[in-house]
Amino acid sequence: MDNFRFYSPTKFIFGKDTEQEVGALAKEFGAQKLLVHYGGGSVVRSGLLERVRKSLRTAALDYVELGGVKPNPEDTLVYEGIKLCLKEKVDFILAVGGGSAIDSAKAIGLGACYEGDFWDFYAGRSRARKTLPVATILTIAAAGSEGSESSVITKTDGMYKRGYSDDLIRPVFSILNPALTQTLPAYQTAAGSADIMAHIFERYFTNTGNVETTDRLCEGLLLSMLREVPKVLADPDDYDARANIMWAGTVAHNNIVGVGREQDWCSHALEHELSALYGVTHGAGLAVVFPAWMKYTMKHDVMRFAQLAVRVFGCEMDFFNPERTALKGIARLEQFWHACGLPVRMEEIGGKKEDIPYLVEHLELDGATRGSFVPVGADEAADIYELMFAD
Ligand code: NZQ
Ligand code: ZN
Repeated sequence: MDNFRFYSPTKFIFGKDTEQEVGALAKEFGAQKLLVHYGGGSVVRSGLLERVRKSLRTAALDYVELGGVKPNPEDTLVYEGIKLCLKEKVDFILAVGGGSAIDSAKAIGLGACYEGDFWDFYAGRSRARKTLPVATILTIAAAGSEGSESSVITKTDGMYKRGYSDDLIRPVFSILNPALTQTLPAYQTAAGSADIMAHIFERYFTNTGNVETTDRLCEGLLLSMLREVPKVLADPDDYDARANIMWAGTVAHNNIVGVGREQDWCSHALEHELSALYGVTHGAGLAVVFPAWMKYTMKHDVMRFAQLAVRVFGCEMDFFNPERTALKGIARLEQFWHACGLPVRMEEIGGKKEDIPYLVEHLELDGATRGSFVPVGADEAADIYELMFAD
């Protein structure tokens, strides 16, 4: 196991009706004037936004609102949010929604404390020193942004989807009420679940040895996803299954299961190009990317793939042919995602083979590689995109 530092300062408030505590909590964290930031309207329709307003008013807190965050959030609204924060002297941002609203809030928090262009951080040109504090009320179990140190934004000029990671932008508190996810369409529930599983895979496939504890934590989370997701798809009101998925989503990405081991993250980079070009939901894009990436990298450490197949997907170990076991595990993953209503091939998301050169170029590798389990350069990325198409 590698040396590590793990810093996860977020206070999590989990359970039914917990959104009603938001005013008191924001006050406890020093908020005076808040920006309430949300998406395309689900929080209005569900009545959640109204409950949030009431709680803030009860705590005698002043606030302004900015809605309209799109899935795969864009820089244009971030600039608007930064301007609003400066004009209104906002000192605290509350994101109400999913990863998109939270990531947009994180970007606004950074931009409001920086003299330059907030995109400098996402383009890798600068590191942040300060941010406005961000808190969240989560409405979808997926991205893990409620506990993570990351934010992903799309620059509309050129459609570059890029991330920034820094412990500074971990939320100060996150309210997780699983009941809030009961209004999700089945497709979003499924896509969110695929994203959660993908966050575990990015950590699971490692070259670091002797990481049994985190291996087992990853496998345990995956096993609970395989058990709980079908329950929620069969019965969207199954609170306990939603609760298990929601906490799995947070734990999968606040990095407690990834410490002390090299992580990969090539598949996320490949997927961000699919979201940017085809507008596909992030988790659905990952369901297309991961099986292909797994088939491509499997030979690098076939025993790790066979271990996953046996311990998580219930395959029998073929000691004479571990590769066969590994492939069976990947096939079961594809079957699981398909049964959840997710795409697993490019054709299903409108992908075209002739787009591959564009997708690879847009990765902006410039001779560099992505991922650490198997470093992926431009040629390898093209091969993996090719594998995403039906045989
Ligand atoms: O915009 P509204 O109207 O709220 O609708 C959303 C949106 O259409 C809807 N939704 C959310 N909660 C709902 C609901 N509809 C009904 N009832 C509810 N309770 O679901 C749709 C998706 O929402 P979004 O916030 O986009 O989902 P998600 O949490 O999957 O976030 C995706 C974004 O997070 C990024 C992704 O790349 C993508 O841009 N990621 C962020 C990460 C991070 N910050 O650590 C890591 C991830 O790997 C990921 O890259
Ligand atoms: Zn993700």
